[in-house]
Amino acid sequence: MNDITDYDMADFLNPDRSDFMKPLRFFLVTDLHYFDTSFKASGSAYERRSRTDQKCIAETGAIIDAGFSRLADDKETEIILIPGDLVYRGEYQSHVGLREKLYKLRENGKRIFLITARHDYSENPVEFDGENEIPVKGMPREELRDFYREFGFDGAISEHKESMSYVARLQPGFRLLALNCDGDCKDFKGLWDDQMEWALEEIKKAHDAGDYIFAMTHYPLLPFSPFANLLGDAKLTDWEKRADEFADAGLSLIFTGHMHAQSLTQHTSPQGNTVTDIQTGSLVGCPCAYRKVTIDDKNVYVKSFTIEDFDWDKGCRTAQEYFRWRFDRMITDILDAMANDFAFFTRLFGGPEKNKKLKIPVTIAGKILQKLTLNGLGRLLCFKVDRSIENILVKDAALEIVRNVFVGDEPYVKGTPMYDAVSKLLKRLHPVTHIIEKKSDGNSVLSDLDDFVLSSIGDEAQMDYNCTIPR
Ligand SMILES: [Fe+2]
Ligand SMILES: [Fe+2]
Repeated sequence: MNDITDYDMADFLNPDRSDFMKPLRFFLVTDLHYFDTSFKASGSAYERRSRTDQKCIAETGAIIDAGFSRLADDKETEIILIPGDLVYRGEYQSHVGLREKLYKLRENGKRIFLITARHDYSENPVEFDGENEIPVKGMPREELRDFYREFGFDGAISEHKESMSYVARLQPGFRLLALNCDGDCKDFKGLWDDQMEWALEEIKKAHDAGDYIFAMTHYPLLPFSPFANLLGDAKLTDWEKRADEFADAGLSLIFTGHMHAQSLTQHTSPQGNTVTDIQTGSLVGCPCAYRKVTIDDKNVYVKSFTIEDFDWDKGCRTAQEYFRWRFDRMITDILDAMANDFAFFTRLFGGPEKNKKLKIPVTIAGKILQKLTLNGLGRLLCFKVDRSIENILVKDAALEIVRNVFVGDEPYVKGTPMYDAVSKLLKRLHPVTHIIEKKSDGNSVLSDLDDFVLSSIGDEAQMDYNCTIPR
């Protein structure tokens, strides 16, 4: 892990580094999803919504306050970047409340640069009261730019108004390309051609002036995990084309959010140029992370932090245990319902209890999953599991593997007992997986399911939290 403060001191004191330009320092926080504390957030309607959400909702005010007070305490870092999803679901009052919190940060000497994203406007925002979802006033998208004019837009050196994008000079030698990627607010979640043309021009202008320029967008530029290739909104529309264009234009670094996952992903264009996408998890979703970044004349240094406490009744859990519980609940509810409550299980998937034929197999599968250990699974399919993990329940292992994809630095790399067990399990499943692979029709993700799964559970690089990369 790189200690930024030690690094800077060493360089400032080094007489051979007389050319040393003042490094740029900033925090990056994203996907705040603030739900204003004046809104009602209790009762069965709230529980229904909250139980299927990996992020916190009612708790967001307390978590954001805890995170922002850490940012305010850091006197050496003035700049804060926020790449969108500022509020829960477009409530006007949540924007008012969040802007108050940003004003407070500004009073503490911070300079904030933000863009908005698709959760920041909505036609149907609600609060929750008992059994009811009660409509509240929404924020129209066209009002967002002026509402947040003091946080990047007004001081911009260039603005692409049609897309609500801008370029800001953060300090001498450093520019930020802040790209809104709402697209058509429907299926197209990308950058318009004229927006891209403007962006490429701005990159060139920065380079001509001798400045370093990097970007932020809400949607990830690159798919951060093999499964992200399968999800439409896990990356920008036309991501390969845009990634090649950015890399070849000399834009080597982009900060993103949206998937609520911690990750670092790189892409090299056919011409041999590389762009790095550093995606930061949501401040209000497990593990509730934020980053501190330093860029000097050679490298980019990234260090991550998580919310360690916040003012909330967490039921005797630490903050991190609470966030994990919130995340896991999405999945444990489904598994519990399979075993014990088929009607609830079908409701979770949005449909009435119409297919009664599924009730028995689903219930049996649910009951088995409640008790099956890795050792039991191994015995069932004739493979050996290391003793250190043999008593772990299959459902707990699966849940942890899914959670790890979002938490980042996935630990199960080659040589670990879990990697070994999953690899043996996949071999046993070859009669089935080979059929899927054959039917994948050249889909590069599904054509090798062993690689798909094994590369999802372990990340050899371990750079999702802390890293040093050349700038
Ligand atoms: Fe989000
Ligand atoms: Fe989002």
